[in-house]
Amino acid sequence: MKFFVDTAEIADIRELNDLGMVDGVTTNPSLILKSGRDILEVTKEICDIVSGPVSAEVIATEADAMIAEGRKLAAIAPNIAVKLPLTWDGLKACKVLTGEGHMVNVTLCFSANQALIAAKAGATFISPFIGRLDDINLDGMDLIADIRTIYDNYGFETQILAASIRSVNHVLESARIGADVMTAPPEVIRKLAAHPLTDKGLETFLKDAAKAGIKIV
Ligand code: G3P
Repeated sequence: MKFFVDTAEIADIRELNDLGMVDGVTTNPSLILKSGRDILEVTKEICDIVSGPVSAEVIATEADAMIAEGRKLAAIAPNIAVKLPLTWDGLKACKVLTGEGHMVNVTLCFSANQALIAAKAGATFISPFIGRLDDINLDGMDLIADIRTIYDNYGFETQILAASIRSVNHVLESARIGADVMTAPPEVIRKLAAHPLTDKGLETFLKDAAKAGIKIV
């Protein structure tokens, strides 16, 4: 499973990238707002750090304007994936931009039919939003499973990018189902390493090491 980090915070991206945890980055206008940075400037900086796909989202809502914005974003670096909303105009822009050889991440996907039609439009990535479905008492994981089945039934090459991941269980379930990629905030990726029995076991070992007077360097 590929790990993308869902942030525009440079320090987090650097730390996780140095650990080999970053196969790509996803951003959106809300994350750009949170970073307080200019979109073109921060996206360029991210692309200089990370070699995998870096999603940068358009803000236009009409196909021609989305295409113009997508081309401008794609010109930042060869590893840009233009992020487009799952609307009819977004699909039109997807078709054109992928036809020009750009990677496209179709975002704000909340149904399997939306994922099906994004694959038909040639999306490189489809981003189903798990947490936001959970927020309205639906099971986001059912959506990931349905998309996996449909894409496998017909051999679609669009990669399932499990997004709006809020917990380590979202990561685990996405991996079980076979999502190609997951994107999560840095804090969720860090939590993947945590287990209370690890902490407890380490505490015991350190106490015993002190009693034994163990010194290694
Ligand atoms: O990857 C999409 C993500 O940024 C949205 O997450 O938590 O705002 O639903 P959230």
